[in-house]
Amino acid sequence: MTWRADVLTIFPSMFPGPLGDSLAGKAMEAGTWALQVTDIRDFGLGRHRSVDDTPFGGGAGMVMRPDVLDAAISSVADERPLIVLTPRGAPLTQKRVQQLAQGPGAILLCGRFEGIDQRVIEARQAEEISIGDYVLSGGEIAALVLLDAAIRLLPGVMGAADSAVEESFSSPLLEYPHYTRPAVWADRAVPETLTSGNHAAIAAWRLDAARQTTKIRRPDLYNQYIASGAQAP
Ligand code: ADE
Repeated sequence: MTWRADVLTIFPSMFPGPLGDSLAGKAMEAGTWALQVTDIRDFGLGRHRSVDDTPFGGGAGMVMRPDVLDAAISSVADERPLIVLTPRGAPLTQKRVQQLAQGPGAILLCGRFEGIDQRVIEARQAEEISIGDYVLSGGEIAALVLLDAAIRLLPGVMGAADSAVEESFSSPLLEYPHYTRPAVWADRAVPETLTSGNHAAIAAWRLDAARQTTKIRRPDLYNQYIASGAQAP
């Protein structure tokens, strides 16, 4: 069955963008997933097809109107989850991406301006998601990120080997570093263990490297890893 993505945006030309290339593009051609883009402005009001207005309570910027957004949502809504991309959303996780990839698809509403009238988010029971602690100029690139992460998990999109790894994704550690030929480049040799042919030693080296990197870069993940019963090196 085709995984169906709907995107609601005032910049429809930003889609499919990078999702038309590479793995996602091939999967779209193969019918593994389908994208429908709706221009919110088609539901705008008045001669200027206005979609926003000034915030009640004052303050900078403009807010997207609930009536306009609700009409746009009505044109596509079904049983799929409705997601609003916003920096005030809950952080996107690999777990949530996996759940979405296992479902029928998603409807993604891209915010622009200062934000979206909260009433339409509540009335539609939309899920607010952020892709990280930084502010983009709108939800469109965040929607592309979410879709890319979900599409690569759809059946048949990646090679069988990769998908299997993905399914058993349970280690909270960052990946170990990778090396390929030449064995010596710019006076730098590949770590000796990796060229030893000793598979147990290679696995131990990689685990140690993953632990060290995670401890330094992501103490939050490292602490989870230790708390889950792994032994500190
Ligand atoms: N829109 C603007 N910034 C965003 C972010 N960090 N995540 C999701 N949507 C956004």
